[in-house]
Amino acid sequence: MMSMLKQHILVTRLNSTNQKIMVKPIIVKDKIKDFNKTININGDKSLSIRWALLASQAIGKSRAYNILRSEDVLNTLACLKKLGIKVVLNKKYCEIYGRGINGFIIKKNTVLNAGNSGTLGRLILGLLVKSEHWVKLIGDKSLSKRDFSRVIEPLKRFGVEFYPKNKKTLPLFIRGTKYLKPIKFIDDIGSAQIKTCICFAALNSPGQTLIKSRRCRNHTEILFNYLKIPIKIKKEKKYDIIKVEGLKNFASFDYKIPSDPSSSAFFIVLTILSDKSKILIKNVNININRIGFIKILKEMGAKITFKNKRIYKGEVVADIFCISQKNLKSITLPKSFNNSSAIDEFLLIFICCAFAKGISSFNYLQELNKKESRRLDWAFKILKIIGVKTQKIKNHGIKIFGDPKLQLKKNYVIKNFLKDHRIAMATTILGLAKGGSWKISDPDSVKTSFPNFFKITTKIGAKIN
Ligand code: S3P
Repeated sequence: MMSMLKQHILVTRLNSTNQKIMVKPIIVKDKIKDFNKTININGDKSLSIRWALLASQAIGKSRAYNILRSEDVLNTLACLKKLGIKVVLNKKYCEIYGRGINGFIIKKNTVLNAGNSGTLGRLILGLLVKSEHWVKLIGDKSLSKRDFSRVIEPLKRFGVEFYPKNKKTLPLFIRGTKYLKPIKFIDDIGSAQIKTCICFAALNSPGQTLIKSRRCRNHTEILFNYLKIPIKIKKEKKYDIIKVEGLKNFASFDYKIPSDPSSSAFFIVLTILSDKSKILIKNVNININRIGFIKILKEMGAKITFKNKRIYKGEVVADIFCISQKNLKSITLPKSFNNSSAIDEFLLIFICCAFAKGISSFNYLQELNKKESRRLDWAFKILKIIGVKTQKIKNHGIKIFGDPKLQLKKNYVIKNFLKDHRIAMATTILGLAKGGSWKISDPDSVKTSFPNFFKITTKIGAKIN
């Protein structure tokens, strides 16, 4: 009994919200056997966070099914509760009782914790632009290293104040104003977080806000359209010109959140790289601005098809079918490719390139080093430890010398990656598909975006310790 107890203490500890977290690394040492499975993936993270934040601004009770129950989304709900919004989360659905635009009840000394989530941290600032009191926004170690000036600068132009002045990282204080003025803003990065933050601030401001944004995921615009919030969008070659008319209240809305394409990507790549396997992933959001990774993988020779394609409240949803592919070809991503459409999947794409025939090259990926960890740097590290030759292209690109005969037989250790969920999952997939003995720290990081990740890998036959 005592030794069982001891073992339990060693394996888990409680985090700040009293949830058990695994502190031991996971061990992956058995290649997955061939599989043929149908799986369901958790709800889309971008849509879950947007649904919750917008439902808080609607009038009345909104309900979502299949909302992602990951830490990023749970932190979103916790922030809304602190802002006076009633939230009900049960096994079947999540309900949010919106109080209309600017309906938050903001008390003095309010502290909001965005945890690990850049999306929550940046988007919620756009809804605090009328706060009379200073609100403190904090985040975890990884989020506290990330640049918030990208949303601070446009918000200041609306009339919002930040403290300390000139600080670009969390923790930060924000105070809004009654006298918001609409702005014109150009986003050359192509960040949906910047674009959405400005759209949310525009919602609270009188008159018309104009954003010229390099094309990126457009869930916010689709939801605004669906909710009849006045929005006009003009498409240019690489940019969208978006005009939002503020201060128009909208009604509550129910939503069945489709599955997350970024989470599906792990199983698509596992299938491609494994032998004689097939997978069908049900009901996935295949918004064109999210599935750049599928375009790239298909270009490399992967066999991926969409079945049962349909439109749900403006989003395109389908079942994704994929089979193994031994003969992947390298790829040179053209300059015209919209990197933002695959921004969260590049690590997985690089892993595929490591086993493809020929030299692959990618450019203009500086944004990758601004994510939960420095992901471009991590790509070099991971490929190096498995013996794949790489070359830097300036400070924003990577060349990968693929080797279809590459065998992984050594011991590999992945640690100190700032608990970046996508690094933990991508390296688990690499080990499962290609072998070797892997020791991966902080497995609990998967709870940030994909709490069922290990459950699903086990369901399709993986043996993970
Ligand atoms: C997200 C936008 C992307 C993405 C992130 C989710 C969103 O970030 O990397 O995981 O939901 O808006 P950027 O918009 O900063 O590229």
